[in-house]
Amino acid sequence: MKYTHGHGPAVLANHVTRTAQDSMAFVLPYLHRDSRVLDVGCGPGSITLDLAAAIAGEGGAASQVIGVENTPAPVAAAEELARRRGIGAVFMTGDAQALPFQDGTFDVVVAHQVLQHLGDPVGALRECARVAAPGGIVAVRDADYDAMFFYPQPEGMLEWQHDYRRRARANGGEPDAGRHLPEWARAAGFGPGQITFSTTTWQYSAGAGASWLADNWTRRTRESGAVPADATDRICAGWRTWREDEAAVFVMPHGELLIRV
Ligand SMILES: C[S@@+](CC[C@H](N)C(=O)[O-])C[C@H]1O[C@@H](n2cnc3c(N)ncnc32)[C@H](O)[C@@H]1O
Repeated sequence: MKYTHGHGPAVLANHVTRTAQDSMAFVLPYLHRDSRVLDVGCGPGSITLDLAAAIAGEGGAASQVIGVENTPAPVAAAEELARRRGIGAVFMTGDAQALPFQDGTFDVVVAHQVLQHLGDPVGALRECARVAAPGGIVAVRDADYDAMFFYPQPEGMLEWQHDYRRRARANGGEPDAGRHLPEWARAAGFGPGQITFSTTTWQYSAGAGASWLADNWTRRTRESGAVPADATDRICAGWRTWREDEAAVFVMPHGELLIRV
């Protein structure tokens, strides 16, 4: 199925800013020197490399951490970042819905902002659990686009939110995945005692944070080629108006799911 964001330069530039601390902090207490970790849909690898650095910091090997992507462009970006950071995590291609690993290979399986893009998120959760060892954990975090809120609310940004949710659904994904994570875990066969659900947010406010977010989404909208020209102009104008407001705020809620296998 089509990945709604694509892998253009502005998308990868956005994803590569993420850290384990700002995106997957809830999994960090489960990492130990012996942990074997899989990052499913790892993108350009900044979170993966943080996880590998954390394990190396505990006395383990960065190579205990593997990042998997179903397309080559983010794998190449991740390998380049690993070289630059000098962290020997392993990156490879593979499909979240048919992972190229034997049962029980990993202690910790993570997927950050991936289930929202899959046609069968329940099957993907089962697949993550299959490659996790008994007693291991699966940890996923997904955004919820309908729950995102911002001030001010220029028409162009409301159009951006509506347009993105419509396109993501047309591509077979679920843009409001954050709220569905416990439901998907139950559908995948996990009991209430195995599931922990929490939420965290990313937030941006007037100044450098708002400028970065607005500039990045403006570039992403233009590079996607998926939004008609007149709508692109309205959406980009909306982001500019928002960015220039001295009281600008943008909040992106995420659902976090921890499954004990
Ligand atoms: C929003 S990005 C998140 C990347 C990374 N986890 C992060 O947070 O920086 C979603 C990633 O999932 C990958 N992806 C989508 N479908 C996939 C599939 N079926 N198998 C593996 N990766 C997939 C995309 O290529 C993309 O890099």
